[in-house]
Amino acid sequence: MTNINALVVGSGGREHALAWSLTKSPKVDSVYVAPGNAGTELDENIENVPIDPMNFEALSDFALRNNCGLTIIGPEAPLVRGIVNHFEKVELPCFGPSMQAAQLEGSKAFSKDFMNRHNIPTGRSMTFSQLKPALEYIQSIEIPIVIKADGLAAGKGVIVAENRVEAEKAVQDMLAGNVFGEAGHRVIIEEFLEGEEASFIVIVDGEKILPLATSQDHKRIGDNDTGPNTGGMGAYSPAPIVNEKVYSRIMQEIILPTVKGMQIEGNYYRGFLYAGLMIDKNENARVIEYNCRLGDPETQPILMRLKSDLAEICLAALDGSLESISAEWDSRHSIGVVMASQGYPGAYKTGVSISGIEMACEEDIKVFHAGTAFQNGSLVSTGGRVLCVTSLGKNIAESQQRCYDQVDKISFDGATFRNDIGWRALKR
Ligand code: AMP
Ligand code: GLY
Repeated sequence: MTNINALVVGSGGREHALAWSLTKSPKVDSVYVAPGNAGTELDENIENVPIDPMNFEALSDFALRNNCGLTIIGPEAPLVRGIVNHFEKVELPCFGPSMQAAQLEGSKAFSKDFMNRHNIPTGRSMTFSQLKPALEYIQSIEIPIVIKADGLAAGKGVIVAENRVEAEKAVQDMLAGNVFGEAGHRVIIEEFLEGEEASFIVIVDGEKILPLATSQDHKRIGDNDTGPNTGGMGAYSPAPIVNEKVYSRIMQEIILPTVKGMQIEGNYYRGFLYAGLMIDKNENARVIEYNCRLGDPETQPILMRLKSDLAEICLAALDGSLESISAEWDSRHSIGVVMASQGYPGAYKTGVSISGIEMACEEDIKVFHAGTAFQNGSLVSTGGRVLCVTSLGKNIAESQQRCYDQVDKISFDGATFRNDIGWRALKR
């Protein structure tokens, strides 16, 4: 086989990790990232190209002109809007689910109905587009109550209401279109699930499944899981809660029926599939949500542990030959700690100067960038989540220590990070 070039679409830490992993592939000559960040600009063998992830035409033109035999889509928005359908039309290999399959993330009403049709365990729920019946339903169920906007809301469309007044307000705001616009014109009212969350991510070729290493995210902004939800403040792999028995139940009860169900409905799922799970004290796993992409920051520690060739895996999934592939994982533990801007997940300043990254370049440490750029030659923040410092260690404690040693070397005004990433794994 002749070598190819690869294109990664997106600009976060997940995309930096994808691009970094692709540079290790003997099959890949050049790795491009559209639009990328300062980290992908700095890395050897990665080149940024200034194209917006929603500009499908410009992306496919670039892929064609630059001999990209593999394009990997990082974020959900282009997938839900049909970037893979677009690339298929122009006969370019693009790894990710079609617009139809991406509905698993793009519409929570779709995914809830889908799970109910295929007996996939999830919280009980009802979907509403009218206020009156939604408010009546709220009176009839137990608190806490979970209210979700149907469509994509950049990770902010979920409200866990501790009382009925709060639940009513959330439903009113969403249905009136005040808060999430179009995404909130339908709401899902769901029972609150108790337990511990885990991220279960697999690669699917339409039929066959290759599970990635297990992982766990930390959604809340503050130590001890306090404060508002974020996109994720840190993650680690493996996740000890997913023991052998839990793993096999997740595969049998959730992942296999999901892939099979999509196949039966003519919506072949090809791409990364991420099941966000709640695992209760009896080791029952239920789906909180599906994502049609890799998790961020889960990808960073997961790909730190991947010893196999990511390009080879994605290419096999693209041509339906995933059964010929296995993935080898570093047996060590990996942790990624997110450093965010002051104020995140609320309003935050950008353009803040970042220093010390060059000191955090030891072996088995990688600082993945997210919201960063070079302005007049100096490194500054451009987003809420700025960096994800990722390490490998022989156990979770060592990995955590090594990670925070590097975090201490990096500074920017208002740098916000959790001090307890990995606490659940350490407690076990
Ligand atoms: P989602 O955007 O669906 O992942 O929801 C964001 C976060 O809200 C999840 O990671 C959970 O922490 C929480 N959440 C969502 N649905 C539920 C539920 N039914 N029960 C408990 N927590 C939930
Ligand atoms: N870290 C959670 C997500 O990517 O949705």
